[in-house]
Amino acid sequence: MSSLFRKPNVKIDDHAQKKFAVLSVSPDGSHLASASWDGSVGLWSLPDGALVAMMTGHGGVVNDVAFSSDGALLYSASADGTIRVWRVSEASETRQLVQHGFGVNKLLLGSGWLAYGAVDGGTRVIDPDSGEEIADLTLDRRPILSMATRPDGGEIAVGDGEGFVMTVSTESWSITGDYQAAGKGPVWALAYSGDGESLLAGGIDDAAYIWPAHNTLDAPIMATEERGFLRDPDAMSNGERQFRRKCSICHSLTDDGARRAGPHLGGLFGRPAGSVEGYRYSETVAGLGFDWNETTVDQLFDLGPDHFIPGSKMPMQVIAKPEDRADLIAFLKDNT
Ligand code: HEC
Repeated sequence: MSSLFRKPNVKIDDHAQKKFAVLSVSPDGSHLASASWDGSVGLWSLPDGALVAMMTGHGGVVNDVAFSSDGALLYSASADGTIRVWRVSEASETRQLVQHGFGVNKLLLGSGWLAYGAVDGGTRVIDPDSGEEIADLTLDRRPILSMATRPDGGEIAVGDGEGFVMTVSTESWSITGDYQAAGKGPVWALAYSGDGESLLAGGIDDAAYIWPAHNTLDAPIMATEERGFLRDPDAMSNGERQFRRKCSICHSLTDDGARRAGPHLGGLFGRPAGSVEGYRYSETVAGLGFDWNETTVDQLFDLGPDHFIPGSKMPMQVIAKPEDRADLIAFLKDNT
């Protein structure tokens, strides 16, 4: 790489006014691609650094680029609301894969999936070949500013404009965690540690945050408006303990207006599934057509959301002991 910038024949400064947003190297190391603010997608060969093409077509700032795992295709995301696909060997556009309508800020490519985040908060996963939707993980209308894949490919993290970080399993496409950094500032950068054990977030409030990437649901929250985690668990009823540990990271008990990954649970018993106004449910939950009551909530965590409501954004989790489920339901009935 260093030779690219030392060689006099590489006129990187010819493009200084382009303001590169992102650089990406193909998996085999043969190409370098750039996302540029002037709307072009740059392609260079490596290691000589020779310009292959400045590819145009996007109607706005290009925010991100990523190569397919075989290096044959390049994907670009733009403020014009599209994701485009370019064939590297021909340096030409093959198709528009996504027309999101709002600017696309970030994209991630995995094996068989492409995840992207947009300025309207849209967070979607699609098949990179067909463009078909695999999952809609959209939570609310906060710009998505950063995304990262865990080194083993099993999880992605998504950071937004108000300091929230959501983690998602790439096996089930369900949400596994949801955090807010102490400062509430935008999360501009996210990265997993090499061993995948920690997730690092960087913002503008002069602080970086590190979370353990595994067992996120059991881990203490860095900062939250609800102080439940700081209370002595021994002083709580079993039902409250279940809720604090397993649900409160994503659900509030009442409609307090605070943003969580899941809908508030106020008035849950007798409430039709998928009916909280303004919450963006997955299609599965929106179309369930039954009410939440003792039986359906019990089944939800006896079988686990992945079996009871397949396709839901809720994380896979089972509460094995019937007493724990009964205590949780009793607590929810008293407090929602
Ligand atoms: C990591 C985040 C997360 C955790 C933890 C979590 N949920 Fe959820 N929950 C969600 C999301 C997201 C949805 C919306 C699902 C969808 O639209 O597919 C949801 C939906 C629900 C619903 C359906 C609500 C409705 O309006 O139809 C219920 C009930 C529920 N959760 C209860 C619980 C309980 C009880 C726990 C704890 C045992 C829990 N959840 C733990 C994220 C979570």
